[in-house]
Amino acid sequence: MTQFKHITALAIFLTSISGFAASDIAAGQEKAQTCVACHGVNGNSVVPTFPKLAGQHASYTLKQLKQFKSKERDNAIMYGQALALTDQDMENLAAYYAAQTATPGMAMGASAEKLALGKKLYNGGKLSDGTTACIACHGVNGKGIPSAKFPSIAGQQSMYTASQLKLFRQNAINQQLGTADPVRNNDYEGMMRNVVSKLSNDEIDALSSYIATLK
Ligand code: HEC
Ligand code: HEC
Repeated sequence: MTQFKHITALAIFLTSISGFAASDIAAGQEKAQTCVACHGVNGNSVVPTFPKLAGQHASYTLKQLKQFKSKERDNAIMYGQALALTDQDMENLAAYYAAQTATPGMAMGASAEKLALGKKLYNGGKLSDGTTACIACHGVNGKGIPSAKFPSIAGQQSMYTASQLKLFRQNAINQQLGTADPVRNNDYEGMMRNVVSKLSNDEIDALSSYIATLK
């Protein structure tokens, strides 16, 4: 009877691993050839509006690719890219980019005052209107928490970071003004939408510059 239990447990275990799509980094690298033009070699984009993908947690990258395809994250360029990818391709690409090393970012032309404001907001939030500190979810070095799907944002292109913060904030603006401008609303339970709803353009600019210097 004990032996039977063991065999049953083993059978269940084997079934569960064979049902799991293993990711293949080499296959991911092969697929990534079409991404190089925008996201750079090894996912280290050198174009300010295109995000770096190198070193990003696989779980986050996979979520984004699936959501571009389903339009839960609405972006015309990436929709076109994701449409051609299978779930297995996405697993492989996510594993490939997670295995790359991000190059250090820079905050081009940011003054010391701007970086200081960014650091203050990042670490302390804004008590006056209840803006949560970024450090709570993205960590002191901006590396995020993979198990919670909090992405790494360290060293990211500052123009890209600013564009995403504004897209999250646009939800609150649309609500206030009754407008329907493009938004980003694929963050679980509105976590990012809540955090950025009260940030000004200058504060977003300062945060994005500071985040670009994190490593
Ligand atoms: C023509 C340029 C272009 C190509 C080619 C391209 N991307 Fe993108 N990618 C973008 C842009 C622009 C964004 C930002 C979209 C936004 O603002 O929401 C983006 C965003 C992403 C993101 C989200 C990153 C984040 O931090 O949230 C992922 C993941 C991604 N791309 C993966 C890929 C993969 C994988 C490929 C190749 C199969 C690819 N991209 C090809 C332009 C491109
Ligand atoms: C309560 C947790 C939480 C807090 C606090 C938080 N974030 Fe986030 N952040 C998230 C989650 C979750 C996502 C991923 C959303 C998704 O799945 O697409 C995210 C995504 C982002 C992104 C998009 C990354 C990319 O590659 O596209 C940026 C930029 C960002 N956060 C910056 C910030 C800044 C700046 C602050 C502080 C003002 C902050 N976050 C505070 C949870 C948080």
